[in-house]
Amino acid sequence: MGLFDRPLLSEESIFSNIESLDPDFVPKLLPHREEQQKYIADCIAPLLKGYNGRNLLITGGPGVGKTACVKRVLQDLEESYDLPHVYVNCWKTSSSHKILTEMAEQLGFKFTMNLSSEDLLRKIKKITKDACVFVFDEIDKAADYDFLYYILEDFPKRSVILITNDSYWLSRLDSRIRSRMIPEEMHFEAYSKEEIMDIIRERIKYAFYEGVWTDEAIDLVVEKTAELSDLRVGIFLLKESGLIAEQEASRRVERRHCEKAAEKLKHFQKRDISELSEDERLLVEIVRKHSGEISGNIYEIYVNAGGSKSQRTVERLLKKLQKKGIFELRPTGEGFKGKSTRIFFKGL
Ligand SMILES: Nc1ncnc2c1ncn2[C@@H]1O[C@H](COP(=O)(O)OP(=O)(O)OP(=O)(O)O)[C@@H](O)[C@H]1O
Ligand SMILES: [Mg+2]
Repeated sequence: MGLFDRPLLSEESIFSNIESLDPDFVPKLLPHREEQQKYIADCIAPLLKGYNGRNLLITGGPGVGKTACVKRVLQDLEESYDLPHVYVNCWKTSSSHKILTEMAEQLGFKFTMNLSSEDLLRKIKKITKDACVFVFDEIDKAADYDFLYYILEDFPKRSVILITNDSYWLSRLDSRIRSRMIPEEMHFEAYSKEEIMDIIRERIKYAFYEGVWTDEAIDLVVEKTAELSDLRVGIFLLKESGLIAEQEASRRVERRHCEKAAEKLKHFQKRDISELSEDERLLVEIVRKHSGEISGNIYEIYVNAGGSKSQRTVERLLKKLQKKGIFELRPTGEGFKGKSTRIFFKGL
């Protein structure tokens, strides 16, 4: 028998739609976030009548459905109305110029090479005819906020939706931008265990054939997700447990498959982070999302996120967090005097 000839490794599958467990998949139904979706839609709705829209700041911890909710509303909007929108993740695209380039490209303008920010803005205004929904996710990670100033100043009809984990971001924002924005605010609370159960059952319906999951296995997924209060943990466990069950040629996902999958969760483990200083916590948050980045860039992101310590102090903190087993520092042999280091997130 060949390596790929074992049962359930080839054609047969317990997954009906494994793609629905990909990080970027946005389910049609988001249980327990109906109110929030309605609120987001209400902020956009005035634009559909030709009025100016409302601005909205969404806050909340990791994996509580902020991005999913906004993307769901945007997809619904796209299906029914001819109102343009852009969605930019400011962690992936952080300088104002890059953000404006990305916006122009999303709106269908292809020739962005060598254009100045002013040119890009002019193109965006022309394409959107001055009315547009702008979503900036992970807004606290933007390197500068010139783009936000331009939008607030130059677009008479717009809804600006900002998403962040950082509840204090707005209070640190330049007052000239803050006073032009005056957003509504909406905080996403963590899900309760009962809510997680509903959501996980719903996500199973999207991804697996009926009857594949045993109740005991579902219970474990819900328990782990609630423990770490991050829905990403649940989605990860659903996919991983399914793959393990298939490898074992099982047509059902049993608790033991989930237990095995949960062993891979060490990167999600919660330590009591109250023992860490505010700067250490910020660095943990940064390296968690930028694992493998060189230390100079980590420092730049830290400063952009509001960190005020010197580079030397931050390097000391990185080493301290390595000693605690949270990071791993690997020299690259490059950079000034070959001293550049890559910082990897190992787990909390
Ligand atoms: N109510 C829900 N129903 C179904 N799936 C959900 C729900 N809430 C969250 N999810 C899923 O959980 C995962 C994490 O959600 P999401 O990406 O929206 O988190 P987030 O609040 O934006 O977190 P972060 O601040 O870390 O970016 C996604 O795969 C999303 O589809
Ligand atoms: Mg998000």
